[in-house]
Amino acid sequence: MKPRPSDPFAKKSIHVLLDEMKGGERLERALGPVSLTALGVGATIGTGIYVLTGEVARNYAGPSLMLSFLLAAIGCGFAALCYSELASMVPVAGSAYTYAYATLGEVFAWIIGWDLVLEYAISDAAVANGWSNYFVDLMQNVFHWRIDPRLVAAPWDFEVESGSFYWKTVTLASGASAQAWFNLPAMLVTAAITVVLVIGIKESARFNVGMVVLNIGIILTIICVGSTHVDSSNWRPFLHEKKGWMGVAMGAAHIFFAYIGFDSISTHAEEAKNPQRDLTIGILGALTICTVLYVGIAAVLTGMIPYKQINVDAPLAAAFQSKGLASASALITCGVLAGMTSTILVGNLSQARILLAMSRDGMLPHSFFGAIHERFKTPWKSTILVGVIVGLGGALAPLKFLADLVSVGTLFAFLIVCGAVLILRYTSPKIHRPFRVPALPFVAAMGLLVNGGLLFWLGKDNWIRLFVWLAVGMLIYWRYSRYHTHLGKPAPESP
Ligand code: ALA
Repeated sequence: MKPRPSDPFAKKSIHVLLDEMKGGERLERALGPVSLTALGVGATIGTGIYVLTGEVARNYAGPSLMLSFLLAAIGCGFAALCYSELASMVPVAGSAYTYAYATLGEVFAWIIGWDLVLEYAISDAAVANGWSNYFVDLMQNVFHWRIDPRLVAAPWDFEVESGSFYWKTVTLASGASAQAWFNLPAMLVTAAITVVLVIGIKESARFNVGMVVLNIGIILTIICVGSTHVDSSNWRPFLHEKKGWMGVAMGAAHIFFAYIGFDSISTHAEEAKNPQRDLTIGILGALTICTVLYVGIAAVLTGMIPYKQINVDAPLAAAFQSKGLASASALITCGVLAGMTSTILVGNLSQARILLAMSRDGMLPHSFFGAIHERFKTPWKSTILVGVIVGLGGALAPLKFLADLVSVGTLFAFLIVCGAVLILRYTSPKIHRPFRVPALPFVAAMGLLVNGGLLFWLGKDNWIRLFVWLAVGMLIYWRYSRYHTHLGKPAPESP
């Protein structure tokens, strides 16, 4: 007999969520405030700051890139406060997915869960792809080892300006052109990270802390060394010649990708030793650290060379090379690799936790997505599946196309979170909130306004792509999930 479909608007009460935390197979509580903050920083610093800054400075913001970073940080800040309240109130794995289930209803929770696949798995595919470029650069320039170019590029690419796709050709050692095959290093780095993730949360967090320390050290070096080469006349005029103030807003929308990841801390609520306190510290701490570093990098980069001359592929490395600082360029490459490795690590980690939360509700098959490894205590099957998807995506898809799509998806999730905080204050006013968003409804309303504005500036093409992605998700919900969710249905009889 076909199971009965659920009510798509049924909400999961906060009390049910809190009760669920007491039973069943749970993850190990192993993360303190430093590990959580490091996970946030690790997920956040990567391709955005190291690669996209060049394109955004040149095409949209000029030296006012510093303001773009601040504007994007303000949008993230409002969302971060809202995330903090919800994460401290409902400290279960699942993040925005769980919050949407409690406030808006089942179908919206599914949409957000599906949307978060964009933020984590798909964004990691893009980052794995970018990782490969820098790896190839390091092999070539430091170890003088040239990898076959057909094995280090996705077979197709994307032109941001015209929005068109084309087959990618590469130049072989013989000088002949050839069609690119796939990106092998992107697959290999994802495979290595997947092994670490399956082995355990403590090992993953420790590995991440190492990567983050290296990454921050290199960023601080870039800022210190770079500041001695700043010529303040490069900051005049401050706004982009053609885009003016509009360029600040457009720049913020396109650089938003650099901030994606700080909210991933909320997906580790179930593994936090003291979730009520430490999730807030982690989320706000990670965002603050990243904002300070990003504005510093933007100031140095646009001060070192005129913004129209900034290199689009490797802006920081090229800026240092242009000042005769070749060894600094190799250092930057190491920072990029560390930064991107931790981004993929935390993104894949978070993705598996969201799938776990969804499978517990019956949205996805629990036998697969909910399987916790007996010895390692990690959701190992879904971690491996995520690794395969990210590895294949990194091998076959280009970064630029995915970056804006991922940003639209994440901004959409931020809007839901800001809305959810407001709704829950009215519908569940009595629930204990260890962290309360100050000045509500102002903060949530500003979160909706600023993040909605950033979403607007990403443009129509990206909204359409997001819509198509969500439509595919709706099809899965309609054909599978609504028949298998548990909410409002009698528990299955035990044999
Ligand atoms: N914020 C992450 C990055 O910039 C996704 O790579």
